[in-house]
Amino acid sequence: MGVAVSTEGLAAHGLRRLAMPVAIVAAEHDGRRSCSTATAMYAALDPVALVISLAQRSATASLARASGWFSVSLPAADQVETAIATGRPAKGDDKFAEFGIPVAEGDERFVVASLADARVAWCCRISHEVAVGDHAVIIGEVVAIRGEPADERSALLRHDRRYVGLGEPLSTQDQGGYPL
Ligand SMILES: Cc1cc2nc3c(=O)[nH]c(=O)nc-3n(C[C@H](O)[C@H](O)[C@H](O)COP(=O)(O)O)c2cc1C
Repeated sequence: MGVAVSTEGLAAHGLRRLAMPVAIVAAEHDGRRSCSTATAMYAALDPVALVISLAQRSATASLARASGWFSVSLPAADQVETAIATGRPAKGDDKFAEFGIPVAEGDERFVVASLADARVAWCCRISHEVAVGDHAVIIGEVVAIRGEPADERSALLRHDRRYVGLGEPLSTQDQGGYPL
């Protein structure tokens, strides 16, 4: 027999079992900028596009909407303190400065600030947005990438309300089929 669970119960016993890549989403507009601990998934491989889901009240979501751009940076496991910091709300107009978050400034090609020394960072132009309850699901086409191909630091994940790193691989790399 099924068990009726409240929304609160589902959040506690369902979604927290999703192992999520920790992503730091950043956006800037008109002299203000913010960044938010979040998660990300690819929306398409051709063209390469990412999907994020930000709370409607998120400052980062407002700045992304206003500018049409956002960046997604994947911190390494050794950057967990940064992920903790970007998960807090800022009081002022620049969360990077307020919390001492290492920043890679935007430039002509990669037009939004991103996390410095991330395993990879993508600059995305917003192509779609769908309101889903209290969140905005935002898709952005990737126009530029930052990263160091030789970077072998562990990914940073979130699972069961904890930050975790990667364990040992459970298989060898597949040689064909799925490209990721
Ligand atoms: C591990 C983790 C993952 C999070 N993922 C999301 C997310 O996917 N979307 C979201 O809106 N907030 C997420 N949050 C909460 C935001 O990081 C937090 O509310 C932040 O202060 C928002 O900043 P902003 O208002 O400057 O955008 C997450 C927090 C943590 C700690």
